[in-house]
Amino acid sequence: MTRPTRDGSLQLSSTETEQLGREVLDMLLAHVRDVRQRPVTTTLPGSQLAERFDLGLPEEPTPIPAVMEQVRNDVFGTIMHQDHPRCFSFIPGPSNFVSVLADALASGFNVICSDWLEAAGPGQVELVTLDWLRQLCGLPAGAGGLFVSGGSMANLTAMGVARHRKLQDDVSRAVIYCSDQTHSSVSRGLRVLGFAPEQTRVIPSDEEYRLPLSGLEAEVARDRAAGRRPFCVIANVGTTNTGAVDPLDDLAVFCRAQDLWLHADGAYGAAAVLCPQALDALRGLGEVDSLTIDPHKWLFQPYEMGCVLVRNLDWLREAYHVRAEYLNEVHDMSQEVHFCDYVIQLTRGFRAFKLWMSLKIFGLRAFREAVERGIRLAEFAESQLRASSCWQVTTPAQLGIVTFRLRAGGAPAEDDHLTHKLVRALLQDGYASITSTRLRGRFVLRLCTINPRTTEADIRGTLARLEELAARLAPLPRRDLA
Ligand SMILES: Cc1ncc(COP(=O)(O)O)c(C=O)c1O
Repeated sequence: MTRPTRDGSLQLSSTETEQLGREVLDMLLAHVRDVRQRPVTTTLPGSQLAERFDLGLPEEPTPIPAVMEQVRNDVFGTIMHQDHPRCFSFIPGPSNFVSVLADALASGFNVICSDWLEAAGPGQVELVTLDWLRQLCGLPAGAGGLFVSGGSMANLTAMGVARHRKLQDDVSRAVIYCSDQTHSSVSRGLRVLGFAPEQTRVIPSDEEYRLPLSGLEAEVARDRAAGRRPFCVIANVGTTNTGAVDPLDDLAVFCRAQDLWLHADGAYGAAAVLCPQALDALRGLGEVDSLTIDPHKWLFQPYEMGCVLVRNLDWLREAYHVRAEYLNEVHDMSQEVHFCDYVIQLTRGFRAFKLWMSLKIFGLRAFREAVERGIRLAEFAESQLRASSCWQVTTPAQLGIVTFRLRAGGAPAEDDHLTHKLVRALLQDGYASITSTRLRGRFVLRLCTINPRTTEADIRGTLARLEELAARLAPLPRRDLA
């Protein structure tokens, strides 16, 4: 086969462009069609993959079919399918195909959503989409934010605003409060922002894994008496471990009275505002100073898409705006919103588009149903677990997460060990994927059921497979599922 010529224009021939375009689209369509039949997780040791990829710098062109074969097998053939209906690990990313295509369009047009001059329509789409989220979360007019890469960046961005507003960026003697269930991105963000570990008070959570107000009050009082500067409370709106929601309304009243910034990490859980039955648990969400909500989790968007909302959009600008001389023409348009004034990134992609396009095409009602389904499926899983003598439910279904552990009858440490082995066995088996966490020092399994294409049969099948695998590891009590 003769190799096609390649020159420095970095363009394929029109035939190749079309062929590759079709092949990529076909691959995506096949993925959507067949993902349910695939193993959820395929992985290979780094040493094996390194061999396949370590072919030196590709000075000369590689034929497209050879590249695509490697793409199929070694790249996308060795992943955990986040959008698989039996992917219950971590917080999965169920995604949706409309948004996949929207991402392709945003990438194809190479939109830079930094300023109005370069992306007026996309900027308007981002403003409108952010305002939909603001309304849904109950934040007042005048609140606003932007889309960032994910929850970690959203938390960092919000805490940077808190530092600026409450401390004028002087972190000395400042103290932050959160529960022991807070996501690790918060401590990482605080480190980046210049806080020492001893400036965070990690308060033991209560029996329901929530931040106890009384514990917070006591810590704040102690710090004030010692001449320190309490300034910020991080609340969880759906902890990653168990889906617990901190008492937002009480925290909001306390923080206002104490002049503390209240940030809510709702990276996955805040999406539950779409469901009337979750609203009670989320009472007070509209009272926070800043909020993280990740569309790439429970709003079904492909990665990477997080969102930070701040009670007053101007606060973001005050924290992050810098004037660059080469952006004169941008700043001449002073009446318009330039997103680069509100965030750390200057060049930024058009993340809003996928959420906007999928909300437009499916309608919000479909999203509400999808979130509601995730909540119901975790409740269904809980009922199945309770009906079986193999399992002990460690936390009830909350916002689409249920945790449980093997009732193998050994000493707790032995059961921990078994539970850990069981997760690995299931990941290897490929039928489903679930992951573990630690609660009060003990290993537990988590099911996060937020994929709207998951069925009750998927849950039943996963629990049955788990029991099969567990029985191979240790004799178990007899199973009695409803
Ligand atoms: C509650 C919570 N906060 C923050 C994050 C971090 O988000 P990301 O992984 O998008 O940076 C996660 C991720 O799972 C999360 O569950």
